[in-house]
Amino acid sequence: MGILDDKVAIVTGGGRGLGRAHCLALAAAGATVVVNDLGSGIHGERTGDSPADEVVAEITGLGGQAVANHASVTDWAATEAMVADTVAEFGRLDVIVNNAGIVRDRMLFSMTEAEFDAVIAVHLKGTFALTRHACAYWREASKRGERVTGRVVNTTSGTGLFGNSGQSNYGAAKAGIAGLTVITALEMRKYGVTANAISPIATTRMTAGLPVGRSDAAEGDFDPGDPANASGVVVYLASDAASWLTGQVLRIEGNRLNRLEGWTIAGVHPSRSGGALTPDELIEAVPQLYGVAPAGRATGVGR
Ligand SMILES: NC(=O)c1ccc[n+]([C@@H]2O[C@H](COP(=O)([O-])OP(=O)(O)OC[C@H]3O[C@@H](n4cnc5c(N)ncnc54)[C@H](O)[C@@H]3O)[C@@H](O)[C@H]2O)c1
Repeated sequence: MGILDDKVAIVTGGGRGLGRAHCLALAAAGATVVVNDLGSGIHGERTGDSPADEVVAEITGLGGQAVANHASVTDWAATEAMVADTVAEFGRLDVIVNNAGIVRDRMLFSMTEAEFDAVIAVHLKGTFALTRHACAYWREASKRGERVTGRVVNTTSGTGLFGNSGQSNYGAAKAGIAGLTVITALEMRKYGVTANAISPIATTRMTAGLPVGRSDAAEGDFDPGDPANASGVVVYLASDAASWLTGQVLRIEGNRLNRLEGWTIAGVHPSRSGGALTPDELIEAVPQLYGVAPAGRATGVGR
C-alpha cells in the first residue's frame, strides 16, 4: 500500500534532475505517472534525447506504472491534450507537478528579448498552461458531483523568492509562479484542489559548478544535493494527508524543510494630515520607516 495508490500524476520535465526524482518517488508511492519531457538542453535547445522514455523504463522496470509524453509545456493545445489524454487513458487525473525548466542567464542590461521570452514561456506560461487545463477538468468533475482531490505542486526557486544577479528572466518567472500558486489556491479551494510550491536545491545539470551537494559523498552518506531530497515533499503534497495545506511555498534545503511566508507589511506610516501623502512629508517619513536617518545614516534600526 502506497499513500498515492490509485492516483494519477503528471510531472513536467520529468526526464531529468528533480523531475525524474519526483516521478520515481510518486510511482514508488503507488501513483501512475505521466512523465512529460521534450528532452531539451539546459537553454531550451532541442537535443533529440528522449529522457521521458528512459524514466518510464526505470519505473516500469521497478514494477510501477508510467507513460511518456513528449510535448513542450509552452504549447497551449498540447498541455490541454496532456490532461485529456491522461483522463482518457487512466480515467482520472489527481496531481500535476509543474517542474519543467530552462535557464538563459545574463545581466539584465544585456539580456535579449528572446532570452527573456524563452524562460518566461517554459516556467511561467508552462506552469499556467497545464494548471489551467487541469483546473478546468477538476472544476467540471466537482460540478458533476465527483469527489475531487486535485493537487498542484509548482516549482519556484530561491532566485524568485530572494533574488539573484544574472537571472532576471528566471527570477521573474519563479516569483510569478509563487504568485500563481497563491491565486490557484484561492480560486480552486472550493473545488477540492490545493496548490503549493516547492523551492528545491539540488545537484543537477542546471546547478553544475555551484556548491550545492557533496561531491565526496560516499555510498550511503546523506547528500544534500540529491534531487530526491525534494521528492518526499512532493509526494506528501500530492497525498490526501495534505488536503488542508494550500497556497504555501515550502523550501527544501537538504534534509531540512523550511516554511516560507510571502510579502508581509513590515511598517506603516499614516499621513500626518489625514489626506494623501506628499513628497515633502515622505522626505522625512520614509527614512524613519526604514530606520535610516534622513541623511542616509543608519540608526541601527532595520537593515
Ligand atoms: N536544481 C536546482 O537546484 C533548482 C533550484 C530551484 C529550482 N529548480 C527548478 O527545478 C526544476 C527542475 O530543474 P532541474 O535542476 O532538475 O533541471 P534539469 O535541466 O535537470 O531538468 C529540467 C527538465 O525540464 C525539461 N524541459 C525543459 N523545457 C521543457 C519544456 N518546454 N517542456 C517539457 N519539458 C521541458 C528538460 O528536458 C529537462 O529534462 C526547474 O523548474 C528549475 O527551475 C531547480
